[in-house]
Amino acid sequence: MRIIATPDYDQMSKKAAGILAAQVILKRSSVLGLATGSTPLGIYRCLIEWHRAGMLDFSQVHSVNLDEYCGLAPDHDQSYAYYMRENLFRHINIDPAHTHIPNGLAEDAEKEGRLYDALIRSLGGADIQLLGIGHTGHIGFNEPADDFPALTHRVALNPKTIEANSRFFASENEVPRYAVTMGIGSIMSAKKILLVASGKDKADILYRSFFGPITPQVPASVLQLHPDVTVVADEAALSVIREKEPEALN
Ligand code: PGA
Repeated sequence: MRIIATPDYDQMSKKAAGILAAQVILKRSSVLGLATGSTPLGIYRCLIEWHRAGMLDFSQVHSVNLDEYCGLAPDHDQSYAYYMRENLFRHINIDPAHTHIPNGLAEDAEKEGRLYDALIRSLGGADIQLLGIGHTGHIGFNEPADDFPALTHRVALNPKTIEANSRFFASENEVPRYAVTMGIGSIMSAKKILLVASGKDKADILYRSFFGPITPQVPASVLQLHPDVTVVADEAALSVIREKEPEALN
């Protein structure tokens, strides 16, 4: 694992966007595993800017997103399909038919999960998977659990996650209680992982994820077993690692 420390959110976004841009430049037909939440927004702004400047061509790129809320249609303004369209896809030249997000409206979530994993396999797996990290240590919507769920599946959201995500909804009651998420196995099958984190509220979970025991109670801790992980985080998010594991930072 390598950790890239940046002074602030803006630099975190630029550095992480640079890694995704390099992937697309080196392989035009890359499969990008993408993420939602507030942390990746600055990355997507950079990618849009560099595309407009003629530096990035997404015409051959495919994307697979981590997760989607259950029960929200793709045109609901809090669905992750809507988020991806508004914050990235409609501003770049990616073919909409190449963009994939789990179907939160699927009647049979188990079947949807199997289809989604088959789709990821048929694309040859993600070349790079972008991840945020939740306060619970979740990646995608894999919440603390008794085991690491391997495949794409339906999951009940942790109360902490519901509370954190209520900022995007009129009230906490409106936050969906379930989501479909890539499983830990699906995430770990990506060739490279790029995890981003910003802000002091992520400092403790970032430390526990990368320097604590590997346990499904801290889902992101499984990334310690992945051979190619890059963490790009700002100093606030790295404050506990800087205090307890300073030699891990350059
Ligand atoms: P955030 O979410 O980027 O909005 O903090 C991260 C996550 O829940 O994975």
